[in-house]
Parts: sequence; C-alpha cells; structure tokens
Amino acid sequence: MRPSKCLLRAFTRLSPSRDTAFQSHHSRCINQNINNQDPYRITKLRNVVQFCTNRPSSVTTQVASEARNLSASRICTKDPTLDKIIAKNGLNVKPLTVERLEEDEKDEEVVNGDVRNIDKDGLENVRRKEIEEEAWRLLRQSVVTYCDSPVGTMAANDPTDTAPLNYDQVFVRDFVPSALAFLMKGEGEIVRNFLLYTLQLQSWEKTVDCYSPGQGLMPASFKVRTSPLEEDKFEEVLDPDFGESAIGRVAPVDSGLWWIILLRAYGKITGDYSLQERVDVQTGIKMIANLCLADGFDMFPTLLVTDGSCMIDRRMGIHGHPLEIQALFYSALRSSREMITINDSSKNLVRTINNRLSAISFHIRENYWVDKGKINEIYRYKTEEYSTDATNKFNIYPDQVSPWLMDWIPESHRCGFLVGNLQPAHMDFRFFTLGNLWSIISSLGTPRQNQAILNLIEEKWDDLIGHMPLKICFPALESSEWHIITGSDPKNTPWSYHNGGSWPTLLWQFTLACMKMGRPELAEKAVTLAEKRLQADRWPEYYDTRYGKFIGKKSRLYQTWTIAGFLTAKQLLQNPEMASSLFWEEDLELLETCVCVLTKSGRKSCSRAAAKSQILI
Ligand code: GLC
Repeated sequence: MRPSKCLLRAFTRLSPSRDTAFQSHHSRCINQNINNQDPYRITKLRNVVQFCTNRPSSVTTQVASEARNLSASRICTKDPTLDKIIAKNGLNVKPLTVERLEEDEKDEEVVNGDVRNIDKDGLENVRRKEIEEEAWRLLRQSVVTYCDSPVGTMAANDPTDTAPLNYDQVFVRDFVPSALAFLMKGEGEIVRNFLLYTLQLQSWEKTVDCYSPGQGLMPASFKVRTSPLEEDKFEEVLDPDFGESAIGRVAPVDSGLWWIILLRAYGKITGDYSLQERVDVQTGIKMIANLCLADGFDMFPTLLVTDGSCMIDRRMGIHGHPLEIQALFYSALRSSREMITINDSSKNLVRTINNRLSAISFHIRENYWVDKGKINEIYRYKTEEYSTDATNKFNIYPDQVSPWLMDWIPESHRCGFLVGNLQPAHMDFRFFTLGNLWSIISSLGTPRQNQAILNLIEEKWDDLIGHMPLKICFPALESSEWHIITGSDPKNTPWSYHNGGSWPTLLWQFTLACMKMGRPELAEKAVTLAEKRLQADRWPEYYDTRYGKFIGKKSRLYQTWTIAGFLTAKQLLQNPEMASSLFWEEDLELLETCVCVLTKSGRKSCSRAAAKSQILI
C-alpha cells in the first residue's frame, strides 16, 4: 500500500464574538499540528506540505486560548489509489460461522466445519479463544483512519448493510469501550489521536436553526469525509455532528462527559499524564466543565437536560434530571478535579467543582434512592406541603407508585436502586442500568447503596439480565404510556431498543461495577452468558423481548461497542489492577463539604446532618 500524502490546512477561529454568525474570516497560517508534542506523529507527518485557505462558511466560534489557536483543523490529501479510505482493513471479511447442533448432540458443535467438545459452561476454552480472536479482528476492522492515523472506530461495520445511516461514523460514547480495549492491550495511539481530534471539533462552528449552542460542546459523532481535489488528489475532512443532522436533533450532552472520563482513563492506563497536562487539553476540560456548571434557573444541583441527550438518544421521557447524565456528570467532575492543574486561574473552577460534587451526591443519595421501605414511605406521603422542612419535598403524589413497582421491589432492605429521574411532582421509578452502574463506579451512591444495587440485579437477574445482559431500562413503557411518552415511536415499542431492550455493550460497565464491589463472579456469569450468543448472532447492537431472547427488530449487526464492550469486560476481569484504576472510592472530603453552611440563606433547609446519620454511611 502506498502511503498517503497529507497536506495540512490550518485555520484559526478569529471571530471577535460568537454572535457574529455568518461572517467569514481570513485564516492565518500556522505551522503546527495537533500532535506537536508527540515525536512519533511528527515523524509520521514529516512529508507535510502546508498551505493556507479560508474556511468557506461561517466561522462563529471564538478561540478559547492561544494554545487552541495552535490546534489547527486539518484537511489532508490522499492518494486516490487508496480506495479503502475509511475502514482500515476492508469490510468483506467472512465472519467465523458457528452452527449449533440440537438436543442429543449437546456436547458437540461445529466451528467452520470442525466438530469440538464443549465444557460444562457450554463453551470450551478453544472456542472462547476463537470468539475473542474474532472480536479483536472485527474491532480492528472497524478502525477509522484520518490521514493514515487511527482516530476512532465506526459504530457498526456490517458489510451487508446497504443503509448504514450514521452508523458509519465514530460516536464519542461508542468509542469508549473500544478505547479501553485498546488501552488495556497497550495500544494507546488511537485513543490519544481520538482525544486530540475531538478536542479540535469542540470549537467547531455548530448551528441548528441559526442558533449556536454553548462553547465546549463535544459532537455526538464525526465522520471522515473524502472529496476529490485537483488531479489525483483527495482530501479528508473531519465532519462533526453536534445534533444538527442527528435524528430528532438531540443534544449530545454525554459526549463531553465521556471525553473527560476517557482522558482520565488514558492517563491511568498508559501512565502518560503529559496529554492531560497540555494547555489545549486543559482548556478543553475547562470548557466542558464551564458549560455544565453554568448557572441557570434550575434549583437542583443535578444537570438539567433535554430528552435523548445520552445513550438513549430518542424521546423516552428522560428530560429533566435523568440519572444517567447525573452519574456521568459526577464521574466527569471527579475526573476533572483530578486532572485540572491548580493555579490562580483555575482555583475558582476547582472550588466550584468540589461544591457541586458534594451537592450532587447529597441530592442523589437522599432523593433518588428507593428500597422497599422508602417506597412504602412515598406510598403514604402527605402532599401539598408548603415549608422548607416538608418531608415530600418534590410533592410526589403517591399514585405514582405503580403496581409493578410494589410487586417488583424485593422485600429485603439489602436491595434497592436509584430512580431514573426526579422533578417537581415527578419521580420516574424505572430502573435505568447505565445510571445505576455509573453511580456504583463513581461512588455517587453510598457504599451501602452501591452494594444494594448489585444485590437487586442479582435478585432480579431474569428481568435485568435474562438471556442477554443487560436491560437498558426496566420495565418497558406500554400502551398509552408508550403512545404519549415516546410519541408512538415504532423503534421504541415495548421491550425493544431503548424501551426495555437488552444492550450487550452495558456488559463492560457492569463488570467494572461488580469488580469495584468485590463481586467479579456476577460479572463472569453475565460474560459467559453473552459469550454463548454474541458471536453466533453476529454481535448485535441490542436484543428484544421481555427476557432479551431475540435479536432486536432493527438491530445493527457487527455493532462495534457490542464487540468492544465484550472484550473490555473480559480484559477487566483478567486485569483487576487496571480495573481498579478506572473506578472511584468514596471521598470523605466531599461528604464534609456542605455549601449550605457557608451561606446564611441555605442553613435552615440543610438536612445533611440528619441525612448523614441515616443514609450516607
Ligand atoms: C443509537 C444509540 C446510541 C448510539 C448510536 C450509535 O443511536 O441509541 O446510543 O451511540 O446508536 O451506535
């Protein structure tokens, strides 16, 4: 293969204010590439030829710092003979086929023509190895390159799919398990490139209906587009989607949070902390943090978001303060606090982060937690209480405690979970898996709560794991609730997709949570279950039905985060030390910080001392 020749085209974003939309600006040439501190990349790009150009359309974003000026956006030209521009190793690879023999042939199966014995778990070690090898092969085939450097993995890579929509893009949230799999294998380059290129996209112009959302927003996904130049040259451009093309125009609130969490993981696993110390990277962290911490009208410490702003990126009734976003927000703030270099210009931000962390954990631990006792309390709530010391602070009407919940919640006080959402007169009692798992991983929940969440998953194994780990949420919205809340979404019918479907990608996060709580055997059980089906089913995106029996109605095949999630789960189990560098223990200092005692106004309504004795310990 002939190497491609990259041309750098540099832009600075010099508009004096981000309100000056549709103004075009002369660009300034700068002789700098994003990896200017990376000797390996400099060698790789030694043939770079530089030229200047104007960005053709509006440039509305102000440069955050001089360092970010130097992070030039880049267009590179490519040799046209390199026709496999995006997928690195080609798509038409024959997947390993597995035929299962029925009933009385139970202890034999045929793998590409060979008959083999299987062990008690239903899989022999050789098969396990083959499955893992196929997963690695598929993961590598999903790698997206930009100017010959790996920069991410595409969401799905099914060679037979004729309408991939945006599944051929690199999604920020989807890349996280890929990144961890690569990092734990000692392959940091792709993750480093991803972090730096998405950082550039953070300042990109972004508009929906002539409105530009806040600076610091990270895209949901990006695509490497190619277009012909003169003669035999092609150029590659990174094209981000901030929601302006996404179905439903949903805002990717979780992208920036995942970016920060991944940046910390990169440092922890590679030991290369120089990346997070870079000025432009520090600015990136601060921009995301500032965007999330900006004051608004909200009275809750949790982050107020629109529906579909996370992994569930469609209308599912999760607008407001959904647990998933709060748990990621908390994790990202804990990561930022570890990574931000403290100096005069950052100390106020760090103080704000500490106060917010403390307030979020208090709010979630006290108000989102339910077990049988708490549900009974809500069931007997008085309503319309007007005072600062009301018991039913959010005026939750007891009728919201639906019959499914009363039946479902285990008797034992050793089981419980954090509810999906909380707003005035609204408590969403659905169990949302990702939010509960990240509450464990980040210590957003108390040690007792975290243990109780895993106890609940164990107790409700059939409902939450069933035939395929794990349910994205439980239970599904049905009948009129489905009509009203999803807008009659045909993709989110009961027990399908986001509405109670089963998502194997959640496996790695479950594994991490189990390992943190000293319960790796639970994770192993789930991994074994997934291992028996994923490869034979061609690595589906999600499964349908109450117990996750069927491959999802519209499920993509060869879904990268299914593959990477499986690999990451296995690697975590094999490397407990690496796993422990990815989660957080309880931080007692945070529990001590109480913003209310610092101000006269809040003191009266602060129930932290009382709450501490009941639930925080
Ligand atoms: C779907 C999922 C979203 C995921 C994307 C790419 O839109 O809802 O969470 O990031 O597909 O896989």
